[in-house]
Amino acid sequence: MTAYHRHARELADRLRASGHARILAVETSCDETAVAVVEDGRRVLASAIASQIDTHALYGGVVPEIASRQHVEAIDWLCDQALERAGVGMEEIDAVAVTHGPGLVGALLTGVSWAKAFAYARGLPLVAVNHIEGHVCANCIAHPELESPFVCLVASGGHSEIALVRAYGEHETLGGTVDDAAGEAFDKVARVLDIPYPGGPLLDELAEGGDDRAYVFPKPRVEGRYDFSFSGLKTAVINAAHRLNQQGEAIRAADFAASFRRAVVDSLVEKALLAARDQGIPRLTLAGGVAANRLLRREIVRQGARAGLSVYLPPLELCTDNAAMIGSAAYYRLMKDEIADLSLNAEPSLAF
Ligand code: KG4
Ligand code: ZN
Repeated sequence: MTAYHRHARELADRLRASGHARILAVETSCDETAVAVVEDGRRVLASAIASQIDTHALYGGVVPEIASRQHVEAIDWLCDQALERAGVGMEEIDAVAVTHGPGLVGALLTGVSWAKAFAYARGLPLVAVNHIEGHVCANCIAHPELESPFVCLVASGGHSEIALVRAYGEHETLGGTVDDAAGEAFDKVARVLDIPYPGGPLLDELAEGGDDRAYVFPKPRVEGRYDFSFSGLKTAVINAAHRLNQQGEAIRAADFAASFRRAVVDSLVEKALLAARDQGIPRLTLAGGVAANRLLRREIVRQGARAGLSVYLPPLELCTDNAAMIGSAAYYRLMKDEIADLSLNAEPSLAF
Protein backbone atom coordinates (compact mmCIF):
# COMPACT_ATOMS: atom_id res chain seq x y z
CA MET A 1 0.00 0.00 0.00
CA THR A 2 1.38 3.39 -0.98
CA ALA A 3 1.41 6.42 1.29
CA TYR A 4 -1.49 7.85 -0.75
CA HIS A 5 -3.61 4.73 -0.33
CA ARG A 6 -2.90 4.58 3.39
CA HIS A 7 -3.80 8.21 3.87
CA ALA A 8 -6.97 8.02 1.72
CA ARG A 9 -8.12 4.87 3.51
CA GLU A 10 -7.61 6.40 6.96
CA LEU A 11 -9.52 9.50 5.94
CA ALA A 12 -12.35 7.41 4.42
CA ASP A 13 -12.63 5.43 7.66
CA ARG A 14 -12.84 8.65 9.66
CA LEU A 15 -15.52 10.07 7.37
CA ARG A 16 -17.55 6.89 7.60
CA ALA A 17 -17.33 6.88 11.37
CA SER A 18 -18.49 10.51 11.55
CA GLY A 19 -21.22 10.14 8.92
CA HIS A 20 -20.14 13.47 7.42
CA ALA A 21 -18.39 14.21 4.13
CA ARG A 22 -17.98 17.27 1.93
CA ILE A 23 -17.48 15.88 -1.54
CA LEU A 24 -16.13 17.53 -4.69
CA ALA A 25 -17.92 15.77 -7.57
CA VAL A 26 -17.09 15.72 -11.26
CA GLU A 27 -19.30 14.72 -14.19
CA THR A 28 -18.00 14.50 -17.78
CA SER A 29 -19.81 11.50 -19.26
CA CYS A 30 -21.32 13.26 -22.28
CA ASP A 31 -21.65 16.90 -23.32
CA GLU A 32 -21.85 18.71 -20.00
CA THR A 33 -18.79 19.42 -17.88
CA ALA A 34 -19.96 19.74 -14.30
CA VAL A 35 -18.37 20.17 -10.88
CA ALA A 36 -20.28 20.36 -7.59
CA VAL A 37 -19.64 20.50 -3.87
CA VAL A 38 -22.11 18.37 -1.90
CA GLU A 39 -22.30 17.87 1.85
CA ASP A 40 -23.63 14.67 3.44
CA GLY A 41 -25.35 13.49 0.26
CA ARG A 42 -28.22 15.94 0.33
CA ARG A 43 -26.91 19.49 0.71
CA VAL A 44 -25.61 21.09 -2.48
CA LEU A 45 -23.19 23.90 -1.66
CA ALA A 46 -22.47 24.64 -5.33
CA SER A 47 -23.22 23.13 -8.72
CA ALA A 48 -21.37 24.51 -11.74
CA ILE A 49 -22.13 23.33 -15.28
CA ALA A 50 -20.61 24.20 -18.66
CA SER A 51 -22.85 22.95 -21.44
CA GLN A 52 -21.37 22.11 -24.84
CA ILE A 53 -24.74 22.06 -26.57
CA ASP A 54 -24.06 25.08 -28.79
CA THR A 55 -20.91 23.47 -30.19
CA HIS A 56 -22.47 20.07 -30.86
CA ALA A 57 -25.62 21.64 -32.32
CA LEU A 58 -23.49 22.72 -35.29
CA TYR A 59 -22.97 19.01 -36.10
CA GLY A 60 -26.48 17.79 -35.23
CA GLY A 61 -25.27 15.61 -32.35
CA VAL A 62 -22.46 15.03 -29.88
CA VAL A 63 -19.02 14.73 -31.52
CA PRO A 64 -17.09 12.62 -28.97
CA GLU A 65 -13.63 14.02 -29.76
CA ILE A 66 -14.84 17.59 -29.40
CA ALA A 67 -16.64 16.71 -26.17
CA SER A 68 -13.42 15.35 -24.64
CA ARG A 69 -11.43 18.44 -25.61
CA GLN A 70 -14.02 20.81 -24.21
CA HIS A 71 -14.11 18.90 -20.93
CA VAL A 72 -10.32 19.31 -20.64
CA GLU A 73 -10.63 23.04 -21.28
CA ALA A 74 -13.50 23.61 -18.85
CA ILE A 75 -12.78 21.42 -15.87
CA ASP A 76 -10.18 23.52 -14.02
CA TRP A 77 -12.10 26.77 -14.10
CA LEU A 78 -15.36 24.98 -13.27
CA CYS A 79 -13.72 23.51 -10.19
CA ASP A 80 -12.55 27.01 -9.17
CA GLN A 81 -16.05 28.32 -9.75
CA ALA A 82 -17.70 25.55 -7.73
CA LEU A 83 -15.34 26.03 -4.77
CA GLU A 84 -15.78 29.78 -4.87
CA ARG A 85 -19.58 29.54 -5.01
CA ALA A 86 -19.56 26.99 -2.20
CA GLY A 87 -17.33 29.27 -0.16
CA VAL A 88 -14.93 26.45 0.66
CA GLY A 89 -11.21 26.04 0.04
CA MET A 90 -9.59 22.97 -1.51
CA GLU A 91 -8.32 22.00 1.94
CA GLU A 92 -11.92 21.75 3.17
CA ILE A 93 -12.81 19.00 0.70
CA ASP A 94 -13.02 15.51 2.25
CA ALA A 95 -13.33 13.28 -0.84
CA VAL A 96 -13.46 13.40 -4.64
CA ALA A 97 -16.18 11.72 -6.70
CA VAL A 98 -16.31 11.09 -10.42
CA THR A 99 -18.62 9.48 -12.96
CA HIS A 100 -16.72 6.50 -14.39
CA GLY A 101 -19.51 5.21 -16.66
CA PRO A 102 -21.61 4.74 -18.64
CA GLY A 103 -20.88 7.37 -21.28
CA LEU A 104 -18.43 8.37 -24.00
CA VAL A 105 -15.04 6.85 -23.31
CA GLY A 106 -12.92 9.93 -24.04
CA ALA A 107 -15.30 12.23 -22.19
CA LEU A 108 -15.35 9.94 -19.14
CA LEU A 109 -11.57 9.65 -19.20
CA THR A 110 -11.07 13.40 -18.84
CA GLY A 111 -13.10 13.46 -15.62
CA VAL A 112 -11.63 10.23 -14.27
CA SER A 113 -8.04 11.36 -14.89
CA TRP A 114 -8.70 14.78 -13.40
CA ALA A 115 -10.37 13.35 -10.30
CA LYS A 116 -7.59 10.82 -9.78
CA ALA A 117 -4.98 13.59 -10.01
CA PHE A 118 -6.93 15.77 -7.55
CA ALA A 119 -7.39 12.89 -5.11
CA TYR A 120 -3.73 11.89 -5.33
CA ALA A 121 -2.41 15.43 -4.96
CA ARG A 122 -4.49 16.07 -1.85
CA GLY A 123 -4.44 12.55 -0.39
CA LEU A 124 -8.24 12.26 -0.56
CA PRO A 125 -10.44 9.18 -1.01
CA LEU A 126 -11.72 8.72 -4.56
CA VAL A 127 -15.29 7.54 -5.15
CA ALA A 128 -16.43 6.10 -8.50
CA VAL A 129 -20.06 6.78 -9.40
CA ASN A 130 -22.37 5.16 -11.92
CA HIS A 131 -23.99 7.97 -13.93
CA ILE A 132 -27.46 6.39 -13.80
CA GLU A 133 -27.25 5.98 -10.05
CA GLY A 134 -26.39 9.68 -9.96
CA HIS A 135 -29.62 10.48 -11.82
CA VAL A 136 -31.62 8.49 -9.24
CA CYS A 137 -29.93 10.45 -6.41
CA ALA A 138 -31.21 13.75 -7.85
CA ASN A 139 -34.36 12.80 -5.95
CA CYS A 140 -32.45 12.45 -2.74
CA ILE A 141 -31.26 16.05 -3.03
CA ALA A 142 -34.63 17.40 -4.10
CA HIS A 143 -36.76 15.51 -1.58
CA PRO A 144 -35.17 15.16 1.85
CA GLU A 145 -38.38 13.50 3.03
CA LEU A 146 -38.24 10.76 0.36
CA GLU A 147 -37.73 7.40 2.00
CA SER A 148 -36.63 4.16 0.39
CA PRO A 149 -37.75 1.80 -0.96
CA PHE A 150 -39.11 3.56 -4.03
CA VAL A 151 -39.52 2.85 -7.72
CA CYS A 152 -37.59 5.13 -10.07
CA LEU A 153 -38.20 5.62 -13.77
CA VAL A 154 -34.87 6.73 -15.24
CA ALA A 155 -35.15 8.09 -18.79
CA SER A 156 -32.24 9.87 -20.41
CA GLY A 157 -30.47 10.18 -23.75
CA GLY A 158 -28.70 6.85 -23.30
CA HIS A 159 -30.88 4.94 -20.82
CA SER A 160 -34.45 4.10 -19.97
CA GLU A 161 -34.84 1.87 -16.95
CA ILE A 162 -37.20 1.11 -14.14
CA ALA A 163 -35.35 0.53 -10.89
CA LEU A 164 -36.43 -0.63 -7.50
CA VAL A 165 -34.32 1.44 -5.10
CA ARG A 166 -34.17 -0.44 -1.80
CA ALA A 167 -31.83 2.10 -0.23
CA TYR A 168 -29.57 4.76 -1.69
CA GLY A 169 -26.74 2.89 -3.35
CA GLU A 170 -28.71 -0.34 -3.42
CA HIS A 171 -31.07 -1.07 -6.26
CA GLU A 172 -32.43 -3.71 -8.59
CA THR A 173 -33.23 -3.08 -12.25
CA LEU A 174 -36.76 -4.32 -12.97
CA GLY A 175 -36.75 -3.53 -16.68
CA GLY A 176 -35.58 -1.15 -19.33
CA THR A 177 -35.47 -0.39 -22.99
CA VAL A 178 -34.72 -3.28 -25.30
CA ASP A 179 -33.47 -0.90 -28.01
CA ASP A 180 -33.42 2.93 -28.08
CA ALA A 181 -33.51 5.12 -25.01
CA ALA A 182 -36.49 7.49 -24.71
CA GLY A 183 -34.27 10.59 -25.07
CA GLU A 184 -32.58 9.12 -28.12
CA ALA A 185 -36.00 8.59 -29.76
CA PHE A 186 -36.96 12.20 -28.95
CA ASP A 187 -33.72 13.49 -30.46
CA LYS A 188 -34.03 11.41 -33.64
CA VAL A 189 -37.66 12.28 -34.29
CA ALA A 190 -36.84 15.95 -33.63
CA ARG A 191 -34.32 15.78 -36.43
CA VAL A 192 -36.97 14.92 -39.06
CA LEU A 193 -38.93 17.93 -37.84
CA ASP A 194 -35.80 20.08 -38.40
CA ILE A 195 -35.52 20.79 -34.70
CA PRO A 196 -31.87 21.45 -33.77
CA TYR A 197 -29.91 19.20 -31.37
CA PRO A 198 -30.73 18.27 -28.67
CA GLY A 199 -34.24 17.89 -29.98
CA GLY A 200 -36.00 16.57 -26.87
CA PRO A 201 -36.62 19.85 -25.01
CA LEU A 202 -37.64 21.78 -28.15
CA LEU A 203 -39.88 18.98 -29.42
CA ASP A 204 -41.52 18.98 -26.00
CA GLU A 205 -42.12 22.72 -26.22
CA LEU A 206 -43.54 22.42 -29.74
CA ALA A 207 -45.81 19.57 -28.67
CA GLU A 208 -47.42 21.77 -26.02
CA GLY A 209 -49.32 23.58 -28.75
CA GLY A 210 -50.32 20.45 -30.71
CA ASP A 211 -53.15 17.94 -30.82
CA ASP A 212 -51.84 14.55 -29.66
CA ARG A 213 -54.62 12.66 -31.48
CA ALA A 214 -53.90 14.21 -34.87
CA TYR A 215 -51.54 11.45 -36.01
CA VAL A 216 -51.84 7.80 -35.06
CA PHE A 217 -48.56 6.04 -34.35
CA PRO A 218 -48.14 2.38 -33.36
CA LYS A 219 -48.17 1.66 -29.64
CA PRO A 220 -44.75 0.27 -28.68
CA ARG A 221 -45.04 -3.44 -27.94
CA VAL A 222 -42.52 -5.48 -25.99
CA GLU A 223 -42.54 -8.77 -24.13
CA GLY A 224 -40.94 -7.94 -20.78
CA ARG A 225 -43.47 -6.69 -18.24
CA TYR A 226 -41.36 -3.67 -17.30
CA ASP A 227 -39.50 -3.25 -20.59
CA PHE A 228 -39.79 -0.56 -23.24
CA SER A 229 -39.12 -0.41 -26.95
CA PHE A 230 -38.87 2.89 -28.79
CA SER A 231 -37.08 1.86 -31.97
CA GLY A 232 -40.21 0.64 -33.81
CA LEU A 233 -42.14 3.76 -32.85
CA LYS A 234 -39.24 6.00 -33.87
CA THR A 235 -38.93 4.29 -37.27
CA ALA A 236 -42.69 4.44 -37.87
CA VAL A 237 -42.73 8.15 -37.03
CA ILE A 238 -39.72 8.96 -39.21
CA ASN A 239 -41.23 6.93 -42.10
CA ALA A 240 -44.53 8.74 -41.71
CA ALA A 241 -42.71 12.08 -41.96
CA HIS A 242 -40.90 10.99 -45.14
CA ARG A 243 -44.14 9.70 -46.64
CA LEU A 244 -45.92 12.98 -45.99
CA ASN A 245 -43.00 14.87 -47.52
CA GLN A 246 -43.06 12.67 -50.63
CA GLN A 247 -46.78 13.19 -50.99
CA GLY A 248 -46.18 16.92 -50.82
CA GLU A 249 -48.32 17.12 -47.71
CA ALA A 250 -47.18 19.61 -45.08
CA ILE A 251 -46.43 18.09 -41.70
CA ARG A 252 -48.32 19.88 -38.96
CA ALA A 253 -45.24 19.95 -36.76
CA ALA A 254 -46.92 20.71 -33.43
CA ASP A 255 -49.53 17.97 -33.92
CA PHE A 256 -46.88 15.54 -35.14
CA ALA A 257 -44.64 16.27 -32.12
CA ALA A 258 -47.60 16.01 -29.72
CA SER A 259 -48.73 12.65 -31.15
CA PHE A 260 -45.23 11.19 -30.93
CA ARG A 261 -44.66 12.57 -27.41
CA ARG A 262 -47.96 11.08 -26.29
CA ALA A 263 -46.93 7.60 -27.51
CA VAL A 264 -43.57 7.72 -25.66
CA VAL A 265 -45.02 9.13 -22.45
CA ASP A 266 -47.94 6.68 -22.34
CA SER A 267 -45.51 3.80 -22.60
CA LEU A 268 -43.17 5.16 -19.89
CA VAL A 269 -45.99 5.95 -17.48
CA GLU A 270 -47.82 2.65 -18.00
CA LYS A 271 -44.75 0.56 -17.20
CA ALA A 272 -43.63 2.69 -14.26
CA LEU A 273 -47.07 2.48 -12.63
CA LEU A 274 -47.23 -1.24 -13.28
CA ALA A 275 -43.87 -1.75 -11.57
CA ALA A 276 -44.86 0.31 -8.52
CA ARG A 277 -48.17 -1.52 -8.24
CA ASP A 278 -46.63 -5.00 -8.64
CA GLN A 279 -43.94 -4.25 -6.08
CA GLY A 280 -46.49 -2.84 -3.66
CA ILE A 281 -44.37 0.29 -3.26
CA PRO A 282 -46.33 3.54 -2.91
CA ARG A 283 -43.48 5.88 -3.87
CA LEU A 284 -42.59 6.61 -7.48
CA THR A 285 -39.84 8.95 -8.70
CA LEU A 286 -38.55 10.21 -12.03
CA ALA A 287 -34.95 10.81 -13.08
CA GLY A 288 -32.81 11.62 -16.14
CA GLY A 289 -33.04 14.24 -18.88
CA VAL A 290 -36.44 13.04 -20.15
CA ALA A 291 -37.82 13.60 -16.63
CA ALA A 292 -37.87 17.27 -17.71
CA ASN A 293 -40.59 16.42 -20.25
CA ARG A 294 -43.71 18.40 -19.48
CA LEU A 295 -46.24 15.76 -20.46
CA LEU A 296 -44.37 13.01 -18.63
CA ARG A 297 -44.35 15.12 -15.47
CA ARG A 298 -48.04 15.93 -15.74
CA GLU A 299 -49.12 12.37 -16.55
CA ILE A 300 -47.05 10.60 -13.94
CA VAL A 301 -48.40 12.94 -11.26
CA ARG A 302 -52.01 12.59 -12.48
CA GLN A 303 -52.02 8.85 -13.01
CA GLY A 304 -49.82 8.21 -9.99
CA ALA A 305 -52.25 10.07 -7.72
CA ARG A 306 -55.12 8.06 -9.16
CA ALA A 307 -53.24 4.87 -8.34
CA GLY A 308 -52.65 6.06 -4.78
CA LEU A 309 -48.92 6.67 -5.23
CA SER A 310 -46.81 9.52 -3.92
CA VAL A 311 -44.93 10.83 -6.93
CA TYR A 312 -41.65 12.75 -6.57
CA LEU A 313 -40.22 14.82 -9.42
CA PRO A 314 -36.72 16.29 -9.41
CA PRO A 315 -36.52 20.00 -10.35
CA LEU A 316 -35.53 20.60 -13.97
CA GLU A 317 -31.92 21.53 -13.17
CA LEU A 318 -31.42 18.15 -11.49
CA CYS A 319 -33.01 16.15 -14.35
CA THR A 320 -30.35 16.79 -16.97
CA ASP A 321 -26.68 16.03 -16.38
CA ASN A 322 -25.07 17.74 -13.39
CA ALA A 323 -22.43 16.93 -10.78
CA ALA A 324 -24.60 17.52 -7.70
CA MET A 325 -26.32 14.18 -8.28
CA ILE A 326 -22.88 12.52 -8.57
CA GLY A 327 -21.80 14.03 -5.25
CA SER A 328 -24.97 12.73 -3.65
CA ALA A 329 -24.56 9.17 -4.96
CA ALA A 330 -20.89 9.25 -3.93
CA TYR A 331 -21.76 10.00 -0.32
CA TYR A 332 -23.74 6.76 0.02
CA ARG A 333 -20.96 4.77 -1.68
CA LEU A 334 -18.39 6.32 0.66
CA MET A 335 -20.52 5.49 3.70
CA LYS A 336 -20.67 1.88 2.47
CA ASP A 337 -16.87 1.88 2.34
CA GLU A 338 -16.77 1.70 -1.45
CA ILE A 339 -13.75 3.72 -2.45
CA ALA A 340 -11.84 3.44 -5.69
CA ASP A 341 -8.10 3.31 -6.14
CA LEU A 342 -5.89 5.02 -8.67
CA SER A 343 -6.31 2.21 -11.19
CA LEU A 344 -9.88 3.44 -11.77
CA ASN A 345 -10.73 3.50 -15.47
CA ALA A 346 -13.55 4.84 -17.61
CA GLU A 347 -16.23 2.21 -18.28
CA PRO A 348 -18.30 3.37 -21.26
CA SER A 349 -20.77 0.45 -21.03
CA LEU A 350 -21.01 0.26 -17.26
CA ALA A 351 -24.30 -1.42 -16.33
CA PHE A 352 -26.71 0.20 -13.91
O1 KG4 B 1 -29.71 12.79 -18.64
P1 KG4 B 1 -29.29 13.60 -19.81
O2 KG4 B 1 -28.98 15.06 -19.58
O3 KG4 B 1 -28.05 12.97 -20.50
C1 KG4 B 1 -27.88 11.59 -20.59
O4 KG4 B 1 -27.45 10.98 -19.58
O5 KG4 B 1 -28.23 11.08 -21.67
O6 KG4 B 1 -30.47 13.44 -20.88
C2 KG4 B 1 -30.41 14.08 -22.10
C3 KG4 B 1 -31.59 13.60 -22.91
C4 KG4 B 1 -31.55 14.09 -24.35
O7 KG4 B 1 -31.91 13.01 -25.19
C5 KG4 B 1 -32.60 15.18 -24.36
O8 KG4 B 1 -33.20 15.36 -25.62
C6 KG4 B 1 -33.60 14.64 -23.38
O9 KG4 B 1 -32.81 14.10 -22.34
N1 KG4 B 1 -34.49 15.69 -22.84
C7 KG4 B 1 -35.81 15.72 -23.07
C8 KG4 B 1 -36.31 16.89 -22.45
N2 KG4 B 1 -35.24 17.52 -21.85
C9 KG4 B 1 -34.14 16.76 -22.09
N3 KG4 B 1 -36.61 14.88 -23.75
C10 KG4 B 1 -37.92 15.19 -23.81
N4 KG4 B 1 -38.46 16.30 -23.26
C11 KG4 B 1 -37.68 17.17 -22.57
N5 KG4 B 1 -38.22 18.26 -22.01
ZN1 ZN C 1 -27.47 11.68 -17.84
